[in-house]
Amino acid sequence: MIVRAIFKILFVVLFLVGSPGYAGDAAIGAKLAEKYKCMSCHARASKRSFPPVPYLAGQHQRYLVNQLRIFRTEQPKSSGGYKIAERHNHLMDVPAANLSNDEINNLATYFANEVCTSVRKNAVKIEAPKTAKACEFCHGEKGHSPFISYPKLAGQNMGYLIKQLKFMRGSAKNPGKKNDRFHRTMAAQVFGLTDAEIVALSYYYSKQSCR
Ligand code: HEC
Ligand code: HEC
Repeated sequence: MIVRAIFKILFVVLFLVGSPGYAGDAAIGAKLAEKYKCMSCHARASKRSFPPVPYLAGQHQRYLVNQLRIFRTEQPKSSGGYKIAERHNHLMDVPAANLSNDEINNLATYFANEVCTSVRKNAVKIEAPKTAKACEFCHGEKGHSPFISYPKLAGQNMGYLIKQLKFMRGSAKNPGKKNDRFHRTMAAQVFGLTDAEIVALSYYYSKQSCR
């Protein structure tokens, strides 16, 4: 009984202070971002370039850490079931491949602490598509996710959002075929979406203010 109570207290404390192993230093992260030229691609987030790149500024630190770790993991080549999360991109795999855990934490802290920019300042007032109701639970109202592992969608690059949703739908529908991105939670969310719904959702979230 006492042991269980101690575990419970420990769990609550960890939850409140954030788990160790993720903390980073923004100043060191800024230097690393320069060294590894992260912005040579990510500065194009506001452009309709192909392939579309995501904005990183103001994103949840924990989510960024998770993504960098997922990119770094060697992708399993065998067919069969997916792990909980898998992601692969020929451009991002290279910069992520040799990052240490500390470097990842520092880079994520730097980008998370940056103030988001872009269209987001002049957010367009548009009505949420009906399908967005289902997303709100995790991604928050207007894409302002309150949870550290769930990405903020507000103000994100529209082309990037479309691409991610299509990747995740593709892997959800073809579990045997390894695809660019899979996430167990998101698979159930995107499975039934049509192309038009994906575009409408991506348009809606991309036009929300990130602040
Ligand atoms: C050669 C271009 C390029 C460089 C350099 C690059 N990135 Fe990326 N990055 C991309 C692209 C493209 C994507 C989107 C991949 C996809 O479609 O899944 C991406 C995605 C990401 C994501 C996922 C964001 C999200 O919302 O899920 C993170 C985090 C990230 N990059 C961080 C970094 C960091 C940190 C560096 C420097 C160490 C870096 N990138 C360097 C092109 C690049
Ligand atoms: C039950 C929680 C949950 C719900 C509901 C949910 N998502 Fe997600 N979503 C997640 C998680 C967790 C991730 C991060 C996946 C990862 O770590 O790879 C994610 C990732 C995403 C991403 C990738 C963002 C990026 O920066 O790369 C997009 C886009 C997205 N969700 C859109 C949606 C949309 C649109 C809906 C509604 C149709 C939705 N989600 C519903 C949990 C959820």
